[in-house]
Amino acid sequence: MGQFVSAIASILYMIVWPIAYHIIKKHDEVVERTQKLIDEQKLTLQRCNSINDELRVKRLRDKVSECLHIKDLLISDDSKEESAFPELTPKQEAIINNALDSRQPASEVLATKFNINITRQDILTLAGLNWLNDEVINFYMNLIIERGKMNKWPKVYAMNTFFYPKVMSGGQSSVRRWTRKVDIFSYDIIAIPIHLGMHWCMSLIDFRKRRITYYDSMGSSNAKCLKALLSYLEDEHLDKKKTEYDVSDWRLTNARDIPQQMNGSDCGMFACTFAEVLTRDAEINFSQEHMPYLRRKMVFEILEGRLLIS
Ligand SMILES: *[C@@H]1O[C@H](CO)[C@@H](O)[C@H](O)[C@H]1NC(C)=O
Ligand SMILES: *[C@@H]1O[C@H](CO)[C@@H](O)[C@H](O)[C@H]1NC(C)=O
Ligand SMILES: *[C@@H]1O[C@H](CO)[C@@H](O)[C@H](O)[C@H]1NC(C)=O
Repeated sequence: MGQFVSAIASILYMIVWPIAYHIIKKHDEVVERTQKLIDEQKLTLQRCNSINDELRVKRLRDKVSECLHIKDLLISDDSKEESAFPELTPKQEAIINNALDSRQPASEVLATKFNINITRQDILTLAGLNWLNDEVINFYMNLIIERGKMNKWPKVYAMNTFFYPKVMSGGQSSVRRWTRKVDIFSYDIIAIPIHLGMHWCMSLIDFRKRRITYYDSMGSSNAKCLKALLSYLEDEHLDKKKTEYDVSDWRLTNARDIPQQMNGSDCGMFACTFAEVLTRDAEINFSQEHMPYLRRKMVFEILEGRLLIS
């Protein structure tokens, strides 16, 4: 009986074990495969997350750059429009028209500042194709000086229209008293209107760049003027500061590639506008076509007693 049982057991063992073994192996395989799947899914999930993150970052970056672009557009467009040619409002236009109305008294004083009276007659030199007179140019130079007192602009001094002929004929000694209360060496820029009888130019002394530049809207050079102004600096320094002024590294330049006048009447406008633009370190960005507008702008600026870009 014992033998029989053991024989049955061996047979069972021989039959069951392989089956059991097979089942266990299959089970193990399934577990392993499932684990693999789980691992793969985890990896995919991680990758998804990181892609999501990247997408989120990219979207953020796009948004930021879009905002920056819009800001750039707004700011640069604004400042360009503003700094180049501020638009005159209808109210300002009406004030300008009234000042230029030649049916009204020519002797009427329309602006008083800097110890200068500007009458309608003076203002009318800004109309049409008239020649600007000394009062208008000198008043405008004072507006430029005044703007230069504000912190955000270069410090500017300007000579009056009588300075150039005087210094050319008599040198520094003939104008030394004109700067009794002014230390020209404390400024960034000195603007000098150049009166050539029938023509106006502008010259700028830039102490920061150690350079004197001559601006002629008819394209001429003026070495004589440049040399005279450099001598003026030397003599003025010796006179007021009692020491020599080293000008060995100063450069004298006739400006090239600058806007040119197309008719014989706008030289004063060109000269004043060179000074207005360059004394705020801006690019020269005007030409003959802007003159009718710039004349009206100048009328308003004189009436207001301040530059529109200030
Ligand atoms: C200069 O003027 C021109 C035409 O008037 C304009 O297209 C340009 O944007 C201006 N540039 C600057 C820097 O103001
Ligand atoms: C300006 O005109 C007024 C009168 O409107 C006069 O009293 C004054 O003396 C004048 N000033 C100058 C500098 O001509
Ligand atoms: C002279 O300037 C005026 C106004 O600025 C303009 O209307 C006219 O066309 C100009 N003439 C020439 C020849 O450019």
